[in-house]
Amino acid sequence: MEKIAFLGLGRMGLPMAKRLNGVGFDVRVWNRTPGKGDGLEEVADAVEAVRGAGVVVTMLADGAALRAVAGRITAGLEPGALWVDMSSVGPVAVAELREQLPDGVGLVDAPVLGSVGPAANGGLTVLAGGRAEDVERARPVLEALGTVVDCGGPGAGAALKVVAIGAIVGGVALLGEALAVADGYGLPQELTAKVLGAGPLAGLLARATSTEADFPVRLAAKDVALAGGGPVLAAVVAGLGSRPELADQDLARYVDALRAEAAAPAR
Ligand SMILES: NC(=O)c1ccc[n+]([C@@H]2O[C@H](COP(=O)([O-])OP(=O)(O)OC[C@H]3O[C@@H](n4cnc5c(N)ncnc54)[C@H](OP(=O)(O)O)[C@@H]3O)[C@@H](O)[C@H]2O)c1
Repeated sequence: MEKIAFLGLGRMGLPMAKRLNGVGFDVRVWNRTPGKGDGLEEVADAVEAVRGAGVVVTMLADGAALRAVAGRITAGLEPGALWVDMSSVGPVAVAELREQLPDGVGLVDAPVLGSVGPAANGGLTVLAGGRAEDVERARPVLEALGTVVDCGGPGAGAALKVVAIGAIVGGVALLGEALAVADGYGLPQELTAKVLGAGPLAGLLARATSTEADFPVRLAAKDVALAGGGPVLAAVVAGLGSRPELADQDLARYVDALRAEAAAPAR
C-alpha cells in the first residue's frame, strides 16, 4: 500500500484520515492548526507530511485553502506522487492546481457527497475526475472512503460535485421556505412532513431536517456560489449569507431558523 499524506483535518478530513488509517493505509497527517490528529501520526510541517508520500490527499475548506496548501507543498512533492484533492473547490481551482504541479505529479479531483457519518464509515459518494491512469492509481484509496463514480477527465469530478451540491443546497433552502409557510399556516409539522416526504421531495426533506449531518452554512454558501449563475441560486447564496450566526452550523439549522420565523402568507 502506498504511503498517504493527508492534509486538512476538519469535520470531514479527520474521520476520512482515520478511516484510511483504520483500513490499513500508512497515513501521516497535517493540519494548518496543529493538534488535530487525534492519535494519527501528525507532523507540524506540511512539507514533512508529503515527504516520501506516494499519494497526497487534501480535504480543505475552499479554493483559497487549496491554493495556500499548494503554495506550501508543491516544491516538496515526490517525483511520481499523486495528488488527490477531495475538497469541494470547482473545476477552475482544480485546473489552476494542475498548472502549478511539477511534471510527473498526477492529480485526481475527487470531491464527495455525504457528511461526517459516511466520512467515518466509508459511506461517501466519491466523484472522481482525472486521467484514467491517475484515477486507477487512486482507486484503492477512494474505494476505502466510499462508492466511486467515474466522472471523466480532469475536473469532471469537481464539476459534477458543484452541480449536485448546488441543486441539493438550493433545494434544501427552497424546502425550508416551504416548511416555514406550512408552519405559518398552522399546519401540524408531522402532517406536512408526511405529505412532502411521500413525494419527490423526500430526500430533501430528510436532509433539511437532519440532526446528524455537519455541513456548515458557510461551506454550503461557498458551494452554491460556485454553482450559481442563475437568479435562483444567487438568491440562495444571499439567503445563506444573511445568517452569519449560523455560518458554522449545519445547513438544517438554517431551515430551523426559517421555520422559527414562520408567518402565514398574506394571501
Ligand atoms: N461537512 C460536510 O458535511 C461536507 C460534506 C461534503 C463535502 N464537504 C466539503 O469538504 C471540504 C472540507 O469540509 P469540512 O466540513 O471538513 O470543513 P471544515 O471543518 O471547515 O475544515 C476545513 C479544513 O480546511 C483547513 N483550512 C481552511 N483554510 C485553510 C488555509 N488557508 N490553509 C490551510 N488549511 C486551511 C482547515 O484548517 P484549520 O483547522 O486550521 O482551520 C480545516 O482542516 C469542503 O470543501 C466542504 O465543502 C463537506
